[in-house]
Amino acid sequence: MHITLRQLKVFAAAARHLSFTRAAEELHLTQPAVSMQIRQLEENIGLPMFEPLGRQVDLTEAGRTLHDYVQRIDEILAEAEEVFEGMKGLRRGHLRVSVASTANYFATRLLADFSKQYAEVNISLDVTNRETLLRQLASNETDIVIMGEPPSDMDLEAETFMENPLVAIAAPKHPLASDNSIPLKTLAQERFVMRERGSGTRGAITRFFERRGVKLLTGMEMGSNEAIKQAVEAGLGLGIVSLHTLELELETGRLVVLHAEDLPIRRHWYMVHRRGKRSTPVTRAFHDYVLAEAERHVRLPADVAELS
Ligand code: PGA
Repeated sequence: MHITLRQLKVFAAAARHLSFTRAAEELHLTQPAVSMQIRQLEENIGLPMFEPLGRQVDLTEAGRTLHDYVQRIDEILAEAEEVFEGMKGLRRGHLRVSVASTANYFATRLLADFSKQYAEVNISLDVTNRETLLRQLASNETDIVIMGEPPSDMDLEAETFMENPLVAIAAPKHPLASDNSIPLKTLAQERFVMRERGSGTRGAITRFFERRGVKLLTGMEMGSNEAIKQAVEAGLGLGIVSLHTLELELETGRLVVLHAEDLPIRRHWYMVHRRGKRSTPVTRAFHDYVLAEAERHVRLPADVAELS
């Protein structure tokens, strides 16, 4: 198979646009030049990569397969470039960080500080839930992920850097708010506002109560910590969220942390990347920065800080 990087580049543009004309525009080539490169590629591989679809083209099965490989080749070339930049002692490059939505509260500040020190690093941040983070790790769409404990059956390297206590919260007017020792069974009689399926927080809560044989009464489901806090404040039920999401509400007294038996749920934050992924000076610098600085970016009132 004698395929060239140039043919793959032309193919990638055509596959992205599903149009030879637009691929030609992107690459500043003529449309016949694009068609010729693709014809040669198809002859080299021995299979058609595109099939006509109305006035456009679509990828064949072989085309989709090649597209997957081309994306991987692109990532490896980008990684190689950053490794070479690092060997030249340069502190620039690209850093793709993805964080669990619950970690966003401290992670955004952490990244802002990091980017001040590494002004030439181009950082992209994605904030999403656990399920999506795992998918991004599997498809190598991210360099470093900050999340709750990752599953052991994936090929990942993970390092914990900070505790992540999950606490029960209520509106200050709630009858349990002033109770200093709430048995778990009493808590379980209350209705809880829960995060969406796929959330790491939700998984940890479910396991915690299952292990103790306590059935939690769940009510509304919400797709973000912000929505949960608003709902609890409005009296729609109780909630269990990471203490790290509560800075503002505790400071302003809009929510209180309940003193319940066995709580907080002890969880940890991890830095995670795919096993075998080459580190670059930028990823190493970020890794060291998180280990040294993460705790400084969590801001909690003194009376709950010891839960952390
Ligand atoms: P979540 O993740 O934002 O998906 O709940 C947090 C965690 O895994 O602890």
